[in-house]
Amino acid sequence: MTFDRSLKIAPSILSADFANFGAEIRAIEDQGADWVHVDVMDGHFVPNLTFGPPAVKAFRPHVKTVMDVHLMIAPVDPYIDAYAAAGADILTAHVEAGPHIHRTLQAIRGAGMKAGLALNPGTPAHAAAPLLDMVDLVCVMTVNPGFGGQKFIHSCVEKVRDLRAMIGDRPVHIEIDGGVDPTTAPLVVAAGADVLVAGSAVFKGGSVDAPDVYGANMKAIRESV
Ligand code: DX5
Ligand code: ZN
Repeated sequence: MTFDRSLKIAPSILSADFANFGAEIRAIEDQGADWVHVDVMDGHFVPNLTFGPPAVKAFRPHVKTVMDVHLMIAPVDPYIDAYAAAGADILTAHVEAGPHIHRTLQAIRGAGMKAGLALNPGTPAHAAAPLLDMVDLVCVMTVNPGFGGQKFIHSCVEKVRDLRAMIGDRPVHIEIDGGVDPTTAPLVVAAGADVLVAGSAVFKGGSVDAPDVYGANMKAIRESV
């Protein structure tokens, strides 16, 4: 993975057909997805449950691009090695997930992955300040994590602008997660984001039998910015 700030679309497979992940991943990549975003939820840090390491490991052979794994779990540290073994390229932990985020980020890089830091909508940009030299990505949540299809929280756009200024020349991506569609994408890209996670806006209306819809949905996001 070489670093660049070109726009990347990372469809969240939370909005895919749960009976058909392999084909769904191949379909979004064939249609131009840059990364594949995998939302891991524990029913504790967030009020929903999704994928453990065996599921993520099963996705791995289907992902030809970048497997971007977003942990919405607490604690994080006991599971880092399992997600590394499952084949995550990027592993993102929430700053709110525990008292020792610095240690967590060190452990993620130590396990050979790129490290991401996610901020909930209620967490200010400056929470990331002491950590910017040890991360590859900052994920700005623009919904409260837990579910796809929620409404974009506009007050988070200013945080993106602040983070972009704080990051400066560091090779750190700014990823936006939640409520991204052709109306909200231009706002966050103008503020400095380069990775757009999108679940419902990519998968809506399509299927593995109608994958062009996924392509058209991604094109609509790209053309909106
Ligand atoms: C929310 C997840 C998101 C979610 C985005 O907790 O982290 O990745 O799937 O879904 P949309 O794009 O539908 O808001
Ligand atoms: Zn996510």
